[in-house]
Amino acid sequence: MLTREHDYSFGPWPQPAPDFFEDGAPAVLNVPEDVQKDWDRHVGRRYIKQVLLDTVPSWLWARRNPGLRSVSDERFCELLCDGIFSKFLFPRRDPNDPPRDQFDAPDERLFAAYLDGSKGPGLEPGEAWFKSDFTPMRLVPSDADSSTVPSVVLFKRRADRSYQLVAIALDQTVFDPSHEGGWVAAKYFALQGAGVITTLLMHPKLHFPSNAIDAITRTRLSPGSTLKQLLLPHFRLAMAVNYAVLYGNETVLKPGKIYAPYPGTLEQHAEIVATLWRGLDHPDGTPNRAYPRYRFPMDAPEIHSPYGTFLGRYHETLLAFGRKVAPSITAGRPHEVAEWARHCAAWVPGFPDASRIFDEDVLARVFASIVLDVGVSHSADHYIYGQVDPREVPFRLHMDVPSASQRVAPDPTTLVTVRDNLNYKMCSLMFFAPYVVERLPEIDYGFADPTLRQANAEFRSALAATESSLINDGVPRYVPLHDIATSVQF
Ligand SMILES: [Fe+2]
Repeated sequence: MLTREHDYSFGPWPQPAPDFFEDGAPAVLNVPEDVQKDWDRHVGRRYIKQVLLDTVPSWLWARRNPGLRSVSDERFCELLCDGIFSKFLFPRRDPNDPPRDQFDAPDERLFAAYLDGSKGPGLEPGEAWFKSDFTPMRLVPSDADSSTVPSVVLFKRRADRSYQLVAIALDQTVFDPSHEGGWVAAKYFALQGAGVITTLLMHPKLHFPSNAIDAITRTRLSPGSTLKQLLLPHFRLAMAVNYAVLYGNETVLKPGKIYAPYPGTLEQHAEIVATLWRGLDHPDGTPNRAYPRYRFPMDAPEIHSPYGTFLGRYHETLLAFGRKVAPSITAGRPHEVAEWARHCAAWVPGFPDASRIFDEDVLARVFASIVLDVGVSHSADHYIYGQVDPREVPFRLHMDVPSASQRVAPDPTTLVTVRDNLNYKMCSLMFFAPYVVERLPEIDYGFADPTLRQANAEFRSALAATESSLINDGVPRYVPLHDIATSVQF
C-alpha cells in the first residue's frame, strides 16, 4: 500500500540539469511547499526589504566612492593568498611526479622563464611555486559592457609560508612588475577573475552538488529515520535558495537587475556555474587539474593557507560526532539506508554506494563532508566575501586588456562606473553578507534516544572547544562560531 510514510512518490527528486546548465549539477525543480514557504518568510521578504531600503544608501556610497582603489603587490597577496580566494592556490611540486604536481604543461610553458629563474625572483631552498587559475573567465568574453580575460597568477611561497606575487598571465601574455602600467592593469584583471570565479564557480560548489542528496534524503528516508533527523537540519532552506539562484526570475545571474554586478550574459554565467560540475580543460584540450569534474569529497579540502587549518579543525569535530552517531544508523543495515546511498551515488559521483555506506567511518565522512560544505565553509565564505571591498575586487572593468608593451597605468577612478559599484554593493548586501536563520552551535537534532541526545549535547560543546582551540593557536577566526549556519540559508 502506498502511504506517506515513505514519501517516495511525492517528494522532490533530482533530474538532469536543464539544457541551460547542460552537464551541470543535477537539478531539483520541484521544491516542496514547506521549504518554499520557509524561504519566502526568511529570505524572499528580506530581499524585497533590501531593494526598497538599501538602494539609495548604496547609490550614495557609489557616488562618494568612484572607481577602484589602488592595489599594491602586497595587498594583492593579502587578498588572494588567504581566506576564500586561497582555495585557488595550487602548488607546483615535483614536475617529475605528475600525480602530486598541480602545474599543467600549459602553466609550465607560460611561466617557464620564471620557473627556471631566468626572470623574476627565482626560488630559494624551502620556497615553492603556486598558481591561482582564473581561466574559466574565457567563458565570459569581453563585450561593450566590460572587458574580461582569462588569467593565471604565479606566486612564490616563502619558507615562512607568506606569499610573494611574481607574474600574471593574461591569456598568453605574461606580465611582471617590469611592465609598469601594464602590470597595474594585469592585477585588476586577475582580481576580476578571482571575484567572478569565486562567486560563480568556487563558492557555488558548496551549494549545488548537495541538492540531489537533499532531495533524496527528504523523499527516500522515512520520517523516523535517524539518518534523516541527522541530515535535515543541514538542508534547511537550501533547495529554495538554490532554485532562486539558478532558475528564479529575479536571479542575480540576470544582467540588468539593480543587484546584478557581473560582466557577460545570463547564458555565460550559467556556463561558469555548470563548470563546477563538468570541469574545464585547457584550451588545447588537455585536462586542467585546477578544474576537474566534480567528485563528492570524503576528506577535508586541501587549502594552502590558514583557512585550510580553520576548516580542517571543524572537519575533525564533525567527523568525531559523525562517528558517534553512525552506529545507530548502520545497525541492522536498514534497507532504506542502502537505497538512500544507492540513489545518492547514482546522482553524485564519488558518493559511497550501498556496498560502502554501512562502514561507520564512511558514513561519518559523508556527514562531515556535507556539513563542512553547507554549514561551516558556506558560512565562512559568505562572512569573508561580505567584507570584500567591491573597489578592490571588481567584477565589470572598463579598460582594454593590456598589451605587453603597455607602460601607462590605468586611472583607477575610471575603471568602473557608479552603476557598477552600486550593483556590486547591492549584491554584496543582499547575497554575499550572511543572514543566519538557524545556528550550528545551537543545533538540536531532536533525537529521542538518550545516547544520541547526549552525543548531540557533546557535539555542541565540541564546536565551542574547536573555536577556542583555533583562537588559542592564533588561527584567524574566518567566521565566529555564533555566525555559522546549519545549512545554506543565504
Ligand atoms: Fe552561498
